[in-house]
Amino acid sequence: MVRVGLVGAGFMGKMHANVYSVLDDATLVAVADTAPGVAAEVAGQWDARAYESFEDMMAAEKLDLVDICLPTYLHAEYTVKAANAGVDVMCEKPMAMTVEEADRMIAAARDNNVRLMIGHCIRFWPEYEILKEYTDSGRLGRLKSINLTRVSPLPVWCWDGWLLDESRSGSAVLDLHIHDTDYILYLLGQPDEIFSRGTQDKNGLSHIYTTMTFGNTVASIEGGWDFNDTFPFKMAFRAVFEKGALAMDGGPLTIYEDGKDPVQPEIDRMEAAGAGGNISDLGGYYREIKYLIDCIVNNKPLVTVTPQSSRQSLAVVMEEIRQAKAGA
Ligand SMILES: NC(=O)c1ccc[n+]([C@@H]2O[C@H](COP(=O)([O-])OP(=O)(O)OC[C@H]3O[C@@H](n4cnc5c(N)ncnc54)[C@H](O)[C@@H]3O)[C@@H](O)[C@H]2O)c1
Repeated sequence: MVRVGLVGAGFMGKMHANVYSVLDDATLVAVADTAPGVAAEVAGQWDARAYESFEDMMAAEKLDLVDICLPTYLHAEYTVKAANAGVDVMCEKPMAMTVEEADRMIAAARDNNVRLMIGHCIRFWPEYEILKEYTDSGRLGRLKSINLTRVSPLPVWCWDGWLLDESRSGSAVLDLHIHDTDYILYLLGQPDEIFSRGTQDKNGLSHIYTTMTFGNTVASIEGGWDFNDTFPFKMAFRAVFEKGALAMDGGPLTIYEDGKDPVQPEIDRMEAAGAGGNISDLGGYYREIKYLIDCIVNNKPLVTVTPQSSRQSLAVVMEEIRQAKAGA
């Protein structure tokens, strides 16, 4: 049984706590959060112990895994502390504020011989897993072009306004758009060219449009959080292959294959349903953390998302930010 300590019990920490409650091989034993009452509330829900700081938690508990759901500017500091304590680390995306911080995290994990997984959940999102399978297998021929979109209202719900502070979140580009940058690198490898333009407001870059080329394949990626509060969160893609298309664009994933009727594939939620609870709402988060726990329990290396691939995604986003700021 993997004994988990959660640090940061806000929006994403609560999501992860939900996932541990339905995993057979992991148990949430401790929750640390500095905001009054937050750790107690989440720990109480899952029969775990509450702490007001990471340090108190580490002093009192014997953990196998520390799950870091802190604001981004704290990822490097706490990942290094956890790795130095000799425990495996799950850390939410984006990996860090800078590539230098990411390098320190990678070095700490390597030197202490612990696993480090960054929460790039889109790699585990069922519809995006299917798109990856179609791209890798070539069953509709080569991927010619793809559009990826991720847009939302301004995230005003966070603790202490940290998301709206570019120096603590890195703006909409590092926080939100990185999901699709990371995914496109997972799908197609390193881009040959990157071209980004964006818009800025008082909170920093709030909307970005990036074009990337990978050989003959072109990707167009949009990410922004400058919609008003009545606008619904949307993630979408349209992928054009030589012999058809895959689209998840305001409706269920649909496969359009030449000469055939469109098909909406059954999304495999059987395993999740067996775990009990309304787990389908947790989507890729469940599959992502289950993957990490399986790697720990079976002593396997992380393959689907590695520290190096997360660093690479961060480096590409930094280039997008540089171009968008220069051109904005
Ligand atoms: N994978 C995804 O889809 C996804 C979605 C949302 C957020 N995230 C990421 O998750 C991370 C957390 O975001 P969030 O939306 O949960 O933020 P949040 O503001 O909802 O929660 C942050 C929590 O951290 C606590 N905290 C702050 N400093 C602390 C410290 N030093 N020690 C202990 N606790 C401390 C706060 O009290 C708060 O409860 C961010 O990196 C964000 O980018 C990922």
